[in-house]
Amino acid sequence: MSAPATDSPEAPGGLPLLGHALRLRDDPIGWFESLRAVGDVVRIRIGPQRAYVITSTAVAHELFVAKYRSFDKGVAVEHFRDVFGQGLLSSDGETHRLHRLLLQPAFHRERLAEYLTIMREQVAEHTRSWRAGQILDARIAMTAITLGVVARAITSAPVADELAAEVQQRLPRMLELSYRRAMSPLPVLNRLPLPRNREWRELVARLHPLVDRVIADYRRDDTRRGDLLSMMLAAREGSNALSDSVIHDQIVTFLLAGTETTATGLTWLFVLLSEHPEVADRVVGELREVLGERPIEPADLVRLPYTTRVIDEALRHSPPIWLITRRAVEDVTLGGHLVPEGASVLLSPYLTGHDPELIDDPDAFDPDRWERVGNSLRQAALPFGGGPRKCIGDTFAVTEITVVLSEVLRRWRIRVAPGAVVTPEAGMTYFPKGMRFVVEGRE
Ligand code: HEM
Repeated sequence: MSAPATDSPEAPGGLPLLGHALRLRDDPIGWFESLRAVGDVVRIRIGPQRAYVITSTAVAHELFVAKYRSFDKGVAVEHFRDVFGQGLLSSDGETHRLHRLLLQPAFHRERLAEYLTIMREQVAEHTRSWRAGQILDARIAMTAITLGVVARAITSAPVADELAAEVQQRLPRMLELSYRRAMSPLPVLNRLPLPRNREWRELVARLHPLVDRVIADYRRDDTRRGDLLSMMLAAREGSNALSDSVIHDQIVTFLLAGTETTATGLTWLFVLLSEHPEVADRVVGELREVLGERPIEPADLVRLPYTTRVIDEALRHSPPIWLITRRAVEDVTLGGHLVPEGASVLLSPYLTGHDPELIDDPDAFDPDRWERVGNSLRQAALPFGGGPRKCIGDTFAVTEITVVLSEVLRRWRIRVAPGAVVTPEAGMTYFPKGMRFVVEGRE
């Protein structure tokens, strides 16, 4: 017989009415770290809502795998359902299961050869104008590449350029507003006629017709092109196929879920490699030894073990997605503690990736630790989440990061620009704010 469920301890310092909302807003990661000492599952209050913060890696796996059926994606996702609709990120239950099944083949390893070509072309296009001594804003430079890649992976039609340009222009503000909506202590605030809600609706309203045009263009010209859109239009499971409106939602989801995240991962890599030039030199050594001067090919991906360790370590050390949320759809226990139906659960890949019980000196950036103790690291480092809701684009993202590093680092030395003050900031992503870098030619 299992032990009876117990109440979880409450986080100290809750204020009347606001609860812990200010702690969550001001320094969420530092505050989460402090909750390790309180317990594995810690009760907090965000305004009138109760939520539970998971601080233990073992309990994170319980949530992702053993008990995933007892949770849906929860309130945070509901705040931006008007953008993602029934896309993979925000759908639940049977709808999610079926769509994931239909979409999974588009992300199979065999598809990567085509995506890798797009990735190489986009890196070339967006770095062609770089000159030695130039200073670049990392967010703008990296998002231009990652948006170009996702837009072209979705459609090889010329409208991909327009789609990427439109999203690039609106993305920073959309993400900022999304985060504020998701963190709102009172969800009703998101429905009031406030200027920021109006701006949000306008941004969303501009994006939707463009995505509809992308699909309509395709319907007119049905030449199969082997891109994501043609795969989605062809996807079938028995009598089930994806409707245009669901395909629309998936396109918006891929555009928003696949660009800022990967750009953030790349930006962190540039920061970390600039701080650890000896690691950057070893990566360049490996790239030159395996590739010489030629462009990277799909078969090379498994021949770059050190570069892969560096990417794994950066995603563990500074995970772009620092917060994952769920909501209990029934009374359930996590780590032996009761989580009542309707309660939100918050889990941070930053906390698991810095778990002092599984990782020695977790704040150090040490790619070689993956060779020494890879298994326990893989348990704790969950930059792509886990279980049936794990990121569908994980291999796509790691491939893209490898392609960017291989094409950029062999030509350029990247350094944090003189005078740039880089500060980690937990918003929609965990991002090194202020990261500008200077490119210097490598001999
Ligand atoms: C370094 C880059 C990336 C990171 C760190 C990342 C992280 C994540 C995480 C943590 C989740 C799980 C969220 C949860 O459990 O609530 C997720 C889900 C998802 N990601 Fe990514 N992602 C990245 C790149 C991408 C790319 C390139 C794409 C698409 C082209 C993508 C598409 C998605 C989708 C569609 C989901 C929802 C999957 C589902 O629920 O079935 N992501 N991502």
